[in-house]
Amino acid sequence: MNPWLEWRMMTMYDGGKIITGLIIGLGLLLFPFFFNAGKAAKAPDPELTPKAQEAKVCVMDKAYMQSSHMNLLDDWRHTVVRDGDRYFKAKNGTVHYKSLQVTCLDCHSNKTKFCDQCHDYMGVAPYCWDCHLEPEEKK
Ligand code: HEC
Ligand code: HEC
Ligand code: HEC
Repeated sequence: MNPWLEWRMMTMYDGGKIITGLIIGLGLLLFPFFFNAGKAAKAPDPELTPKAQEAKVCVMDKAYMQSSHMNLLDDWRHTVVRDGDRYFKAKNGTVHYKSLQVTCLDCHSNKTKFCDQCHDYMGVAPYCWDCHLEPEEKK
């Protein structure tokens, strides 16, 4: 029989099954692709040090820190360098010494698993470490 006619007859009598088969087949074919895409896109999960866990809160609330920690650092940097203003009072009343190294990286001393994990994922590479010291980490 003419293959076209054969196809027409098959799809006429059993179209539903064939279409379902095609969709399942396509799904199986694409499954490893989606599966791996999901893995590769896994969002970073910044790890807290025991010291940070004990502190429970950051210098500002978490949502602000996630979106705007660079602005806070910038503000700290300018107020320290220009005005010699070295203290920051958090909402809960805790006073923090304004310092990247002495404050942020004392609590988040796991820089590679905290700062870097997120930055690598987002493709940002802050140049601060040209001058500011990174904490020594046990690998
Ligand atoms: C005394 C400890 C401490 C200090 C100092 C501190 N943090 Fe945090 N930080 C935390 C804790 C605890 C959390 C998690 C807060 C939460 O889950 O509500 C956090 C959360 C964050 C987050 C969000 C992480 C996430 O899971 O998305 C960023 C970014 C961050 N801190 C950056 C900084 C920077 C930059 C500084 C210095 C300006 C700093 N932290 C100073 C304890 C600290
Ligand atoms: C939750 C993820 C996350 C964590 C944790 C995190 N960062 Fe960031 N950081 C970002 C993102 C995203 C940007 C880029 C934002 C942009 O370009 O607008 C950024 C940008 C920065 C910048 C500005 C860089 C530039 O070139 O403009 C600095 C400085 C910085 N982060 C410092 C830190 C420090 C220090 C830590 C650890 C104490 C830290 N970040 C932890 C996500 C994170
Ligand atoms: C060219 C060298 C250099 C680079 C690059 C640099 N800094 Fe600084 N930073 C300094 C110097 C010098 C001071 C003044 C130190 C002081 O007075 O204690 C300072 C002070 C600061 C302070 C306040 C004091 C302290 O102990 O932290 C902050 C916050 C700061 N810088 C953040 C940053 C951030 C964030 C970046 C990257 C986006 C950065 N700096 C990049 C040299 C640098």
